[in-house]
Amino acid sequence: MALWGGRFSQSPTDAVFALSQSVQFDWRLAPYDLRSSLAHLSVLESSGLLKKDVASSIRKALNELIAEVGSGKFSYIASDEDVHSALERGLTEKLGEIGGSLRAGRSRNDQVTTDLRLYAIDQMISIAQAITELQGALIAKATEYSDAPAPGFTHLQHAQPVLFGHELAKHVHAFARDLDRINDWLTRTSVSPLGSGALAGSSLPLAPEKTALSLGFAMSAQNSIDAVSDRDFVAEALFILSMVGVHLSRIGEEWCIWSTTEFGWALVADAYSTGSSIMPQKKNPDMAELARGKSGRLIGNLAGVLTMLKGLPFAYNRDLQEDKEPLFDSIDTVLLVLPAVTGMIATTEFDREKMALAAPLGYSLATEIADYLVRAHVPFAQAHEAAGKCVALCESSDRQLHQLTDQELSSIHAELKPDVRAVLTVHGALASRTTRGGTAPSALAQQLKDAQGSLEDAKKRFSAASKEFATMMGSSD
Ligand code: ARG
Repeated sequence: MALWGGRFSQSPTDAVFALSQSVQFDWRLAPYDLRSSLAHLSVLESSGLLKKDVASSIRKALNELIAEVGSGKFSYIASDEDVHSALERGLTEKLGEIGGSLRAGRSRNDQVTTDLRLYAIDQMISIAQAITELQGALIAKATEYSDAPAPGFTHLQHAQPVLFGHELAKHVHAFARDLDRINDWLTRTSVSPLGSGALAGSSLPLAPEKTALSLGFAMSAQNSIDAVSDRDFVAEALFILSMVGVHLSRIGEEWCIWSTTEFGWALVADAYSTGSSIMPQKKNPDMAELARGKSGRLIGNLAGVLTMLKGLPFAYNRDLQEDKEPLFDSIDTVLLVLPAVTGMIATTEFDREKMALAAPLGYSLATEIADYLVRAHVPFAQAHEAAGKCVALCESSDRQLHQLTDQELSSIHAELKPDVRAVLTVHGALASRTTRGGTAPSALAQQLKDAQGSLEDAKKRFSAASKEFATMMGSSD
């Protein structure tokens, strides 16, 4: 059903209609469009613009449509341009002429961005909840391996030993920042565009503040031109989702490396692996690879929307219709990847022995020698030099650091006493890294405890937000 046409003498050609049509993808906004129509209806009613009996017939029809859209009984048809026209057709089919009453004081320009905000808020809360599940799996795995030494890397070269639980727990913090970003985004997105009309506001006695509150927004927009043009919330959501994607991708990369024959640290569960159609022995970490691969399209969606927005004149332009598919795709993608990666993490087992044997390799205890000398008041530059000489000597004679003789040690530096060997163990190196955030067992235990506490807070926060949103969607005004 067309929402315009009075001033036209020709109908759109098939090509024009095909390019204009968005209902095939914006139909998912239907529940939010119907809910915001209920809020708009209440304002039209209480301002006296709609008579009580008309308003109550429309309310009844809207509530019926909510149920019918939910059950699939009502859906769009090929001649509907977009979700708004499809739903107005639904109302008109039920009510005749008065089905078109809700257009008073409202334009698709403020309507579409209101719907999109509501949809995005709903979905971002679900994504936050899925992130907390992933964090839970990471904390559990990190706890399981909180006593397992492993090599820590910089430049993908052995650097210093770490506890493997420390390595796993680092990811929890990246996702905690994503949750913070979602939280901030929710606050900033909590502005209702309704009342802005096409761009200039409305001459009708609407109550945008009231509509805003009834839809769960903190306030209504302060500038109607900005309100119908603003897609910052879309771009920001796409950035957050890209960042989540990058975090998932980096996990994916680690899992790929750790499960190679060369590393042999990670044993990915069969349920999270796939085989090869030609090589019977193959077991591939496809979930990890897809997590890595999907991040590309998330970043692409962000780049696409920013490019579409750049240089766009104010207020509404049809280009803005291009905000939806990238947002929907990124939301769908992240909701697809998160549970798969969560399951992959929860079911992967690691080879403690292999990791422990590898921990001291590559002279990863050399920093211990430098730190030992610093404790004996040797300036760090000198200490570093001496430790480097120890490594060079070991390398040329194919030995480990603790195998240097007393004499060799003291000839490298007078302060290198035999008791330096006490720090030349993985256990000693780990135990000494007690700074906040460090790899010592005590420091890691504290990190895991704090992370668990933050996770529980986040779970409560997003579960409350989800319930609040569901209550708003279920209410009728
Ligand atoms: N389908 C449109 C969109 O997604 C709705 C708004 C159209 N508004 C207009 N004045 N043509 O952006």
